[in-house]
Amino acid sequence: MSRRMLVAGNWKMFTTSGEGVILIQDLTGLVRDCWDEVEVAVCPPFTGLKAASTVIEIDGLSIALGAQDMHWEAEGAFTGAVAPRMLTDLRCNYVIVGHSERREYFGETNETVNNKVRAVFGAGMVPIMCVGESLATREALETESFVRNQVMEGAAGLDSAQASKLVVAYEPIWAIGTGRTPTPEAANDVCRSIRATIGAMYGPPAATSVRVLYGGSVKPENAKMFFDEPDVDGALVGGAALKADSFAGIVKAAL
Ligand code: 13P
Repeated sequence: MSRRMLVAGNWKMFTTSGEGVILIQDLTGLVRDCWDEVEVAVCPPFTGLKAASTVIEIDGLSIALGAQDMHWEAEGAFTGAVAPRMLTDLRCNYVIVGHSERREYFGETNETVNNKVRAVFGAGMVPIMCVGESLATREALETESFVRNQVMEGAAGLDSAQASKLVVAYEPIWAIGTGRTPTPEAANDVCRSIRATIGAMYGPPAATSVRVLYGGSVKPENAKMFFDEPDVDGALVGGAALKADSFAGIVKAAL
C-alpha cells in the first residue's frame, strides 16, 4: 500500500492574487525538502489561480494547484461560473467539489457534486470531493450512513481508474473553523468507511488507491495524530493554510 500523502490548502475566500503569490513563495522556502515525500497543493480563489499558476511554473515549484469549485458544463450561459477547460488552461491539477460551505450556502446537492466530480475527471483533473456530517447527524449516531450516502451519490458513475485517483476529504461540518475535532480514531473510522464504500462501488484496487483526507481545524499541533491513522492520507486545511509557517508545519507532520 503506497498512497502518497496529500496536504491541500483551501484558501476559501481569502487572498488577492498578489497575497497568494507571496504565500506560495514563503511556503516554498519552508517545504522544499518535503516534496518528494508529501504532495502539497494550494487552492486559491479563482481570481488567484493565474498568478499562482505562473509563479509555480516560473519558479519550477513542485506544488499542485487546485480550484475550489467548477461548473460541470463545458461552456454556456452560466453567469459567474467557471468551466473545466478554463481550469486546465491554468494548469490546475485538482478541483475541490462539494465543500460543505458550497452545499450550505450555494445549494450544492449530491447530484450536482456528482456532475462536477465526473466533469473534473472528464477534463483530466482530479476532484477532491468533500463529505461530512453536521453535529445533529453526529449526535443522532448517523455519521457513517450519512457519509456513505454522500460518497455513493457523489462518486457514482466513474470508471475504476478514475475511482482509484479520486481524493475524498472527510470534513465534519462541526469541526470546520471551530477548533473542535473528532478524535483521530473517530476520524479514521469514517475515513475507513469511505474507503470501504469506494471498494464496494469500484473494487478492492480502487479502495486501496483512493486517498481519503481529514479536514476540520487541522493545525501543526494536531496534524500528526491524524496522519498516524492508517486510513487518513493527508489533510484539507482551511485557516491554517493561510499562513506559510503553520501550513508548512502541517506538511512536515506528514513526513
Ligand atoms: P479549517 O481548517 O479552517 O477548519 O477549515 C477546514 C476546511 O473547511 C477545509 O476545506
